[in-house]
Amino acid sequence: MKLCVVGSGYVGLVTAVGFAEMGHTVIGVDRDEKKIAMLAQGRSPIYEPGLEELLRRNMEGGRLSFTTDLGAGVSGSLFCFIAVGTPNADDGSADLGAVLDVAAEIARNIKEYRIVVVKSTVPVGTSTKVQEIMRKVRGLSPEESHTLFDVVSNPEFLKEGSAVDDVLRPDRVVIGVDNPRVGELMKELYAPFTRNGHPVFLMDIPSAELTKYASNAFLATKISFINKMAEICDRTGADIMNVRLGMGSDPRIGMPFLYAGVGYGGSCFPKDVKALIHTGEALNIPMGLLSEVEAVNDFQKRIPGHLVDSLFPGRSDLSVAIWGGAFKAETDDIREAPSLVLIDHLIERKARVSLYDPEAMDNLKSRYGDRIRFGKDPYEILPGAEALCLLTEWRIFRTPDWDRVKSLMARPIVIDGRNQYDPRELAGRGIDCYGIGRGRSREAR
Ligand SMILES: NC(=O)c1ccc[n+]([C@@H]2O[C@H](COP(=O)([O-])OP(=O)(O)OC[C@H]3O[C@@H](n4cnc5c(N)ncnc54)[C@H](O)[C@@H]3O)[C@@H](O)[C@H]2O)c1
Repeated sequence: MKLCVVGSGYVGLVTAVGFAEMGHTVIGVDRDEKKIAMLAQGRSPIYEPGLEELLRRNMEGGRLSFTTDLGAGVSGSLFCFIAVGTPNADDGSADLGAVLDVAAEIARNIKEYRIVVVKSTVPVGTSTKVQEIMRKVRGLSPEESHTLFDVVSNPEFLKEGSAVDDVLRPDRVVIGVDNPRVGELMKELYAPFTRNGHPVFLMDIPSAELTKYASNAFLATKISFINKMAEICDRTGADIMNVRLGMGSDPRIGMPFLYAGVGYGGSCFPKDVKALIHTGEALNIPMGLLSEVEAVNDFQKRIPGHLVDSLFPGRSDLSVAIWGGAFKAETDDIREAPSLVLIDHLIERKARVSLYDPEAMDNLKSRYGDRIRFGKDPYEILPGAEALCLLTEWRIFRTPDWDRVKSLMARPIVIDGRNQYDPRELAGRGIDCYGIGRGRSREAR
């Protein structure tokens, strides 16, 4: 089948590559000329494990190409995916500007029947707005418009860091349609992804749209919940890692997303929680539950900075090393990353900051320039540092050479924002380690 994917960012690019890998013919579209020029050379503008290899293979196989010309993308494609960004507007709502612009441009360009698939995360009711704007552009009534296009909601559940795998082997595919025939075509498009039994849920459009927000908000809630328990642990001497094991082994609760730490970041949870709060409030539904999830998360992101302040009160010539700048491991994405909160805080208190991240340093360099120093490996940034903050759970940071760390640092203090280390074991090596909710950290708060 032939399709185009408008928006070649984290979601659009991996989606385009995934469909091509399954044998469909795909045109990726983006208005960013630099991005498209890079992609046309088989180079990925983002880091995702396995992505570049698949990108090249499918381009060489003639199943995948890229263009800035939306008309060219739409002309031969039965399915036109919209995968552009939906950032928060000033009031917290999802800014649908890019989605609606692309919908209007698709409407201007279509010459025969097309299925417009909204893959961007959009609030319930957006697909109706997409239909309305497309009808307006073409001057069509609702009845007439179905001969020219249908609109589908098909939210994406991929996780950055394992995006390729998630797209090729989705847990589930959610498809919202108002026309059963289109539902069958969508199932056909996804058939290669779901042969091994992963479910396809065909549903009404509003339910599909809400499913995405409900999923992200629930996961964010789980993270903030365990972080709140971690705060109690820090005040009482309980250890959140024990509490986590004890509660997470209940199958109704489950272990995933039950890690206390410096809070969730990335392009999705923070913005989607905000947008869902806005949706609820616009409907006069009190959304205190999610407002608290957000407040807890903001607090968590500030913990490393608070710890530095309480360990080194009034010091202006402090040197702090940071391991990890990406919002999570296996990605170069720094959007809403906890590292940004700590770096901004340290720069404000005039500390010297040095950082190592396996993939995210280019993005951090673009943001901070020479205001922070970057190292070629985890150890290069340690000489003279009085505190080392672990903020991203990259595997390379899991089992450091502690003797080397201790010999390089001016003072052996580790702030473990991801609970990767055992504070007791490090204490045995003469290193003070402050985790999140590990009990031992409480003296420093
Ligand atoms: N990143 C994730 O992990 C993830 C996961 C699931 C869902 N989503 C959702 O998917 C959507 C896209 O997210 P993303 O992270 O891929 O965003 P992104 O910012 O990485 O990519 C968006 C792309 O769209 C392009 N674009 C914007 N306006 C355009 C236009 N008018 N014409 C052509 N191209 C245009 C931009 O140049 C950019 O390359 C969002 O709604 C997001 O919430 C993201």
